[in-house]
Amino acid sequence: MKKNYLIAGALALCLGAGSVMAQDAPQMLRQDDMKAIGQAMGQLGAIAKGQKDYDPVVVEGALSSIADHAKDFPTHFPPDSKTGNDTEASPAIWENMDDFTGRADKLAADATALLADLPANQAAVGKAMQTLGANCGSCHEIYRAKN
Ligand code: HEC
Repeated sequence: MKKNYLIAGALALCLGAGSVMAQDAPQMLRQDDMKAIGQAMGQLGAIAKGQKDYDPVVVEGALSSIADHAKDFPTHFPPDSKTGNDTEASPAIWENMDDFTGRADKLAADATALLADLPANQAAVGKAMQTLGANCGSCHEIYRAKN
């Protein structure tokens, strides 16, 4: 009996440690960055489409989030994270790390420039989305594998 408890305890510890590791894994951290960027684009999109009223606080928050997460994103690609955790990262990233990082920096720079000259109405938010959105597809095309 006592042995069973020990095994159960050890198993629980392993599972616990496993889930912590998965959350901190570079694949998860970079996917979280992209999720946050996607959410921020969704907020801007709702304003651009007129589903939400223009709100400078929301626009500023979304642009800050894109700038911060785009800067953080390329820091989570260590060589041992090419596979695992459902990553959609293409092996091309590790062959062209400078170009890849440059594209993330470009997105961050575009968001930062928009923060300095905040889109002041619905139409301007739509235009900002085009500027930002050009970065998404062009990087995904080369560096995001469709698994
Ligand atoms: C520097 C290249 C790059 C840029 C720029 C970029 N992405 Fe990504 N994106 C990726 C890569 C690589 C992945 C796959 C990451 C992984 O699974 O490890 C990804 C994944 C995603 C995901 C899926 C996240 C998940 O749940 O796993 C979303 C959503 C996303 N990107 C949205 C965007 C949007 C919106 C933009 C533009 C505002 C954007 N991305 C710009 C490279 C980029």
